[in-house]
Amino acid sequence: MKVDGTHRRSLWPADGRDALFVIDQRRLPHECVVARLEDLAAVDAAICQMTVRGAPLIGATAAYGVALQMNADAGDAALDLALQRLAATRPTAVNLRWALERQAARLRPLAPAVRADAAWDEADAIADADVAVNRALGAHGLALLRTLQRQHAGRRLNLLTHCNAGWLATVDWGTALAPVYLAQAAGLDLHLWVDETRPRNQGASLTAWELGQQGVAHTLVADNAGGHLMQRGLVDAVIVGCDRVSARGDVANKIGTYLKALAARDNGVPFWVAMPLSTLDRRVSDGLRDIPIEQRDAREVTHLGGRGADGVVVEVQLAPDGTSALNPAFDVTPARLVDALITERGVVPATAEAIAALTRAAPGPADDG
Ligand code: MRU
Repeated sequence: MKVDGTHRRSLWPADGRDALFVIDQRRLPHECVVARLEDLAAVDAAICQMTVRGAPLIGATAAYGVALQMNADAGDAALDLALQRLAATRPTAVNLRWALERQAARLRPLAPAVRADAAWDEADAIADADVAVNRALGAHGLALLRTLQRQHAGRRLNLLTHCNAGWLATVDWGTALAPVYLAQAAGLDLHLWVDETRPRNQGASLTAWELGQQGVAHTLVADNAGGHLMQRGLVDAVIVGCDRVSARGDVANKIGTYLKALAARDNGVPFWVAMPLSTLDRRVSDGLRDIPIEQRDAREVTHLGGRGADGVVVEVQLAPDGTSALNPAFDVTPARLVDALITERGVVPATAEAIAALTRAAPGPADDG
């Protein structure tokens, strides 16, 4: 997508295959800065510290992390250590495991001497496929939006989104925002309510920034405003991304997603989840019980970062000294509250049967595991 009018991906390899460039998402929206990652340790830190974040982007970044390690040492022990180290960076988004398993399957049968080239090829393939998958998912989502617009003919569509599931969370296009970008290109009149998404504020800092860059009409709202907007008839659909979806359709996504789904159901508002098949975990059925939920630093809740009037980005304390805080980063929305899963192979209900049929329909990422 575009940054200041120039097309960018959220990550790209150096020409010499000796580094990975990523947009440093911790610096947005105040500056768009590119970070150069030169080894496994730098990739590990970039994922842990959320220089990069978003399920598909974490997976692609980790795949390049393996490639960087193969440049340094392509022996069996080094490969296994790299896979283990990267797998431990963040627990909830399953795309990480999916990408590492792809690298493992590609590299383990090879002699160490040829592993580095193969690892870079595989990482490039994962990144390119992510772009194509999101574009395809976006086209299916666009069809849903066209139907919605026919139901509300003659007026602007209002969508609500939570967290950031745009191009910054993927290699390009995004998941939940891919249909939005295609709808904008197709001339549909739409507007997004953007949840701020405490505590990391991905909505305020990332979604608002990228929608602004693409010229999509949007309004930032406090996380607690969604239910009220739905009661007033100001939300035509909720569209979110996901970090892991279980085989029966339970959806792990950014903390607060579940409350939006409850409010949507109570108000008869469709609740849609954009799910590339790399985010499906067929090994988990009961997502509420078995999807691991990342617990992050309490300081993300007690403190807040932002730009002061002097232009300097600072952190301020919100809570009294010594306040204890809990910071679960994700929640799980039960499948019964999900009206549609938008995938690269079409739109399906969030049921075990529909998901199984979808993954049988053609070979692809979810069939690998
Ligand atoms: O903690 P984050 O910022 O990595 O969480 C990201 C989200 O929850 C996104 O909504 C999700 O990964 C979908 S990304 C297309």
